[in-house]
Amino acid sequence: MNPTTFVLFGATGDLAKRKIYPALYHLFLNGKLPEAFSLIGLGRRSLSDATFQAHVKQSLYDFYRFEVKEDQTLQAFLSLFGFNILNIDKQEDFVQLKGRVEAWEQGHEGLVNRLFYLSVGPEFFGTISSQIENSGLGEVTGWKRLVIEKPFGHDLASARVLNAQLSEAFAEEEIYRIDHYLGKPMVQRLEALQQANPVIQALWNNRYIANVQITADETVGVEERAGYYDHVGAVRDMFQNHMLQLLMMLAIQVPQNSTTAENVRLKKKKVLEAIEPLQRQDVATRIVRGQYAAGTLHGTPVQGYTSEPGIAEDSINDTFIAAKLNIDNYYWRGVPFYIRTGKRLKSKHTRMVVEFKDPIKSLGSTQQSITPNLLIFDIGPDEGITLQLNTKDHEHQGGFKPVNIDLYPDRTEAPEAYETLINDALIGDSTFFVHWDEVELSWKWVQPILEAFAENEVPLHPYPAGSHGPAAANEMLAQDGYRWWFDE
Ligand code: BG6
Repeated sequence: MNPTTFVLFGATGDLAKRKIYPALYHLFLNGKLPEAFSLIGLGRRSLSDATFQAHVKQSLYDFYRFEVKEDQTLQAFLSLFGFNILNIDKQEDFVQLKGRVEAWEQGHEGLVNRLFYLSVGPEFFGTISSQIENSGLGEVTGWKRLVIEKPFGHDLASARVLNAQLSEAFAEEEIYRIDHYLGKPMVQRLEALQQANPVIQALWNNRYIANVQITADETVGVEERAGYYDHVGAVRDMFQNHMLQLLMMLAIQVPQNSTTAENVRLKKKKVLEAIEPLQRQDVATRIVRGQYAAGTLHGTPVQGYTSEPGIAEDSINDTFIAAKLNIDNYYWRGVPFYIRTGKRLKSKHTRMVVEFKDPIKSLGSTQQSITPNLLIFDIGPDEGITLQLNTKDHEHQGGFKPVNIDLYPDRTEAPEAYETLINDALIGDSTFFVHWDEVELSWKWVQPILEAFAENEVPLHPYPAGSHGPAAANEMLAQDGYRWWFDE
């Protein structure tokens, strides 16, 4: 790869320290960074290069997932880092930054690349990208790329405004929008599983599948993020992005001949386009909104949402959301996709369960039904793929009993989401990044929910901390004759 400068806005922030530096270090150790590589960290306070390097080093000690060795390799890595003070409102700061980047580039041969990573609040994205454009920092002989993190807007209108701003400085192919769920190894495996297995391909449709359940439960509450979370809620924080991405990744028909980024993203877009739109008047019946009340989590009493520091006593913010979606296409018509996510639930897990049709029930027989076959994807914190089948039960005449087959016994150390994503951004593979079309379509789908929630047109179900969420989320499935799996 040609000489590359990694320009990092928000270099002393939390994400940089927890995720970006450890990921870059891992890529460096594995020979995956460009041979000529330089990172310029930017922040509002002045730091010397040496102090910045010490900060990066400390973050490796605190957050790298393997042992950090104090050796020449570590020194070589840290020597790639420099720091510049920058006020995003001052064009002269960008001009000065450009001078520093160019000075480094002049010492290297070949076309030069610049990757701009915005590890800052989304309210700064527009200003930064205009400054990059106006200062000439965006003029490169090689490639330039922009990496940003969600949230991409607050609703449909603000997402469009933001995108219009970014588009003035960067073409769509140059924008890499991170949704860290797309970096999770199990999510990335879904595509290969479908592509390489005719057995899965053959079953991946409404002839065999009864319903799909996607759950992302968290035990944490609002933590120290009251200011952010109380304006966002589960619908914007998790549902509009991570949950809909999981749905797309599960429901796409992976193109057999070519899994280029373009093809995969096109297929994902087709899934989103096929989701039956939700009308505002149906939100109250199709969506379950919940908020955690006081309860007990693993034996410890915890307070309710409205007693958390920084949260108003009368907040109606959603900390839980469950929804039923129908994908109206040839493959999925008639298969409900149930989604739920929330904070302060019983355990932390992200899981997708594909429930197959009960062959006995489908034939209309009055015989006792059997446990359905399930294909279970555990995405995190523990990974796994399990297939639940039925076998003969020797103890009960004519009976069956379910058996689990572990399809993923080879648990080699999986890469961290950010290692994969930063590497992909450097090599220009956008398969696991979010295209603007996906952002726009997903905001479009949730827009009626945002409006109905804001106007308080939907019941707000309290649920005790440490539970599985409000009973209304169970009723949603019970009405269709199903239940959430693994809630015991
Ligand atoms: C983030 C949300 O995007 O995802 C957080 O802002 C949430 O509220 C987190 O806790 C969950 O991510 P993970 O990887 O722990 O499931």
